[in-house]
Amino acid sequence: MIDLTGRVVLVTGAAGGIGQATARTLVNAGATVLLHDVRLDALKTLKDELGESAETFEADLSDAAATQQMWDDALAAHGRIDVLINNAGTYPPAPLEQSLEDWTGVWDFSLAVNLVAPAVLCRAAVLAFAKQDLGGIIVNLASRAAFRGEDPEYWHYAAAKAGIVAMTRTIARQYGRQGVTAFAVAPGYVDTPLNQVFKETVGVQVAADQTGLGEVAQPQDVANVLAFLASGLAKHATGTTIDVNGASYVR
Ligand SMILES: NC(=O)c1ccc[n+]([C@@H]2O[C@H](COP(=O)([O-])OP(=O)(O)OC[C@H]3O[C@@H](n4cnc5c(N)ncnc54)[C@H](O)[C@@H]3O)[C@@H](O)[C@H]2O)c1
Repeated sequence: MIDLTGRVVLVTGAAGGIGQATARTLVNAGATVLLHDVRLDALKTLKDELGESAETFEADLSDAAATQQMWDDALAAHGRIDVLINNAGTYPPAPLEQSLEDWTGVWDFSLAVNLVAPAVLCRAAVLAFAKQDLGGIIVNLASRAAFRGEDPEYWHYAAAKAGIVAMTRTIARQYGRQGVTAFAVAPGYVDTPLNQVFKETVGVQVAADQTGLGEVAQPQDVANVLAFLASGLAKHATGTTIDVNGASYVR
């Protein structure tokens, strides 16, 4: 049912857990993938695996100008992008015991990567999609944290992800007539390197026990939802946020 043949999809943070699973899933469904990350070595390994269907783009998303340049380069590769998946994210701790300068420094970095960079790419996508005959699809990675809130050291992350949800809804409401649809996906705990500290200090079982399924999500569980949204089959669900949290937080 999901056929992405001929579709060009930009995936940010493609070297990460969800990013890699998503890239593989999209290519298996026929897409050409433009893979972005700041970790070029890991990206190149993935490109070697995926072959001609993949191209790589490097940028540090904490730099808005570099983010815009990455979009420009990715768009130039095929002259169009059909789907933008804003997947890259960062999860640095900001304990209250830190100095104010250090604490706000983490906020600045987190908001730059988790909210402003996706906004820069959404802006570029809306401008480009409005000129394309078939428009385009935006899929933004939010988080359960946007709705439930997050652990004590991660106010910034919850705030950034709530911003992602509000931004996605705004784009869906304002640019649908120009051929742009926009969706958010809100995972709970997913077994990826992002959760390395939690895994080592608290343990995966604690996260699994919070779900209705008794198990945490794997990257593929999120990738399946991203591929479905990228297919265009969910056009009239534009503006929605799909939870992928195993009923650990039902809203
Ligand atoms: N893993 C989870 O439990 C979980 C839960 C909810 C939401 N999410 C979201 O899903 C998305 C993917 O997360 P993941 O679990 O695959 O994490 P991950 O750490 O495995 O991958 C994230 C990727 O983003 C890249 N990245 C980080 N900072 C960057 C920067 N400054 N510039 C460019 N690239 C940068 C990293 O290099 C990495 O490859 C993120 O937006 C994350 O917030 C994850």
